[in-house]
Amino acid sequence: MFRKLKELENEACLKIKDATSIDELKEIKVSILGKKGELTTLLRSLGAVDPEERPKVGSAANALRLELEKLILGKEQLLRDASLGDKWAKEQIDISLPGRPAALGQKHPLTLVNDEIKEIFIGLGFQVAHGPEIESDYYNYEALNFPADHPARDMQDSFYITTKYLLRTHTSPVQVRVMEKLAPSLPVRIIAPGKVFRRDDDATHSPMFHQVEGLVVDQEVTFADLKGTLLLFAREMFGPEQKIRLRPSFFPFTEPSAEVDISCIMCASRGCRVCSNTGWLEILGAGMVHPRVLEVAGYDPKQVTGYAFGMGVERIAMLKYGIADLRLFFTNDLRFLKQFA
Ligand code: DAH
Repeated sequence: MFRKLKELENEACLKIKDATSIDELKEIKVSILGKKGELTTLLRSLGAVDPEERPKVGSAANALRLELEKLILGKEQLLRDASLGDKWAKEQIDISLPGRPAALGQKHPLTLVNDEIKEIFIGLGFQVAHGPEIESDYYNYEALNFPADHPARDMQDSFYITTKYLLRTHTSPVQVRVMEKLAPSLPVRIIAPGKVFRRDDDATHSPMFHQVEGLVVDQEVTFADLKGTLLLFAREMFGPEQKIRLRPSFFPFTEPSAEVDISCIMCASRGCRVCSNTGWLEILGAGMVHPRVLEVAGYDPKQVTGYAFGMGVERIAMLKYGIADLRLFFTNDLRFLKQFA
């Protein structure tokens, strides 16, 4: 039996060594180690061996199996390398060809505008704050003075996750979160950029869009401070000739509240299609923080006052770049996106 194993070993080693292709090697493997292979068959006759010898023969046969498997694997690698070498030798490589330049990405127009808004306010001493996109009913509405069933909730119909949690409809909840954290220290001077969500979908509304919220709380903050800050913002963003106009409005969390317009950048206020011949374009909502909101968030409305504003980033980008359809921002057409380097 030992002799037979030795013979098999010699023969197999030679065959493996001489194999010239992977297919041939596979055949050799099956013919020796396969179910009906030589070594397997030999092992089946182990029963005929003297019981005392059996364990030794068995372990020698197993050692041989391992050895052959290793040899085959090594040979396979050799054959593979050789075939790759052949392929490369046949291929003509022109090393003088210029390399392909890596395609560089660039910032999305909304990111550009968002960065610009942030930079203007950071320059005015504001800090950047963030809040969660999945917001509780409490922060999105309740703490901002929209009680349950208040009709003002209808202006911002949204996506509820449970009855208590929803995708935030505006960035205003960050006001409350920041004040809760900082109260009673002063001043609070933050902007909060981020995504917001509403059940809206047309050429000027998207179910997901971006806002930047602003909040200042301090002693003796006045409506004039708000107006001055917004005028400065409009001039930095749209040019030094910009004027702003405040119209009375309503938000539950500010009193008084205003809608803020800038003079139409398309027609220099002469009146055109974009501004519906009014000469003005609405860019944001603003107002003095409602005393109840200050109080809920931990400030004493008798000691401090505050102003707040909230602007839509898409709206500002559309005006700045003269884009008519907001959906262009989200359809990822490179011909559109590449215009904003
Ligand atoms: N959150 C408001 C909205 O989404 C915008 C807004 C209005 C924010 C007035 C404010 C504000 O901070 O004072 O429509």
